[in-house]
Amino acid sequence: MDLALLVEQALEQVSGAADENALIQVKASFLGRNGALSSELRGLGKLPKEERAARGGELNVAKKRIEEAVAAQQENLRHASAEQQLTEAQIDVTLPALGLPLGHAHPLTLVENELIALFSGMGFEWVDGPEVETEAYNFDSLNMPSDHPAREMQDTFYVEDGIVLRTHTSPVQIRAMEGRTPPLRVFTTGRVYRHDSSTRHSPMFHQIEGFLVDDRVTFTDLKGTLYAVVRELFGADVKIRFRRSFFPFTEPSGEIDIWRDGKWLEILGCGMVHPNVLKGVGIDPQKFQGYAFGAGIDRIAMLKYGLEPIRVLFENDQRVLNQF
Ligand code: DAH
Repeated sequence: MDLALLVEQALEQVSGAADENALIQVKASFLGRNGALSSELRGLGKLPKEERAARGGELNVAKKRIEEAVAAQQENLRHASAEQQLTEAQIDVTLPALGLPLGHAHPLTLVENELIALFSGMGFEWVDGPEVETEAYNFDSLNMPSDHPAREMQDTFYVEDGIVLRTHTSPVQIRAMEGRTPPLRVFTTGRVYRHDSSTRHSPMFHQIEGFLVDDRVTFTDLKGTLYAVVRELFGADVKIRFRRSFFPFTEPSGEIDIWRDGKWLEILGCGMVHPNVLKGVGIDPQKFQGYAFGAGIDRIAMLKYGLEPIRVLFENDQRVLNQF
């Protein structure tokens, strides 16, 4: 076969290959084992000896030209497909961004923050206290004798002998009074633990606790302050009931209820700090008096936002949380 013609055909087909697959096929049809050039090469052996070298040289030159054309075309095709990808993948930088989902405060945090703002605004100082507490702070110093029902095993989680998970935030009162001298206006917020579980009770819940100690504190101060707080939390027209109660660490003691859905619901306990409590921290009850109060933050959140059962607050279901 005319070698020049063969090369010409090959180059034409190579440059006409539209993609890599086509190119591979063209390459095979010339350079492959059964390709046109290969059979020419195989034919060398049948040639007379003196023609062999010259023909072999020509064939090699032809082979090389085809190989080079294939390589060049391969490069062209790669370049073209990269170009195409770039064009297709073009992004519109003027499109608005998708935006990141924004986090927000949990309902308990909202209520806690509101309470912190309220009491800070009235000049109360926020303090922290330990969740793992001694029985002495959690009970004894709060005038709770060792036969008090709250000290029984069913209510209290014992960590070890004499050490409990605090059952209320009231021990923070004692810790705060120990390190300070009156006048005092202090409050705390935090977790408390009780062996109790129902639709309205969780073994871990949150309380706010506060107290004021000074030399002319009356029950009226207590009532006025707490009424103002309850009205801030539940609206100025909330129906409030103040009734007597009992706590070992206050005397007299009271509880505040609000009217909701046809019934009175208890929201906080309070009273005048018991003289024994003041004495215990070295404050003279003849010179100083104080009031104290404690309330469940979870309870307030449930009432404020109509959330029930209480576990809704702790399941962290996005369908609930996203509503706040
Ligand atoms: N510690 C009480 C409780 O957990 C709540 C309480 C009542 C706190 C009266 C007080 C108070 O400071 O004066 O049920």
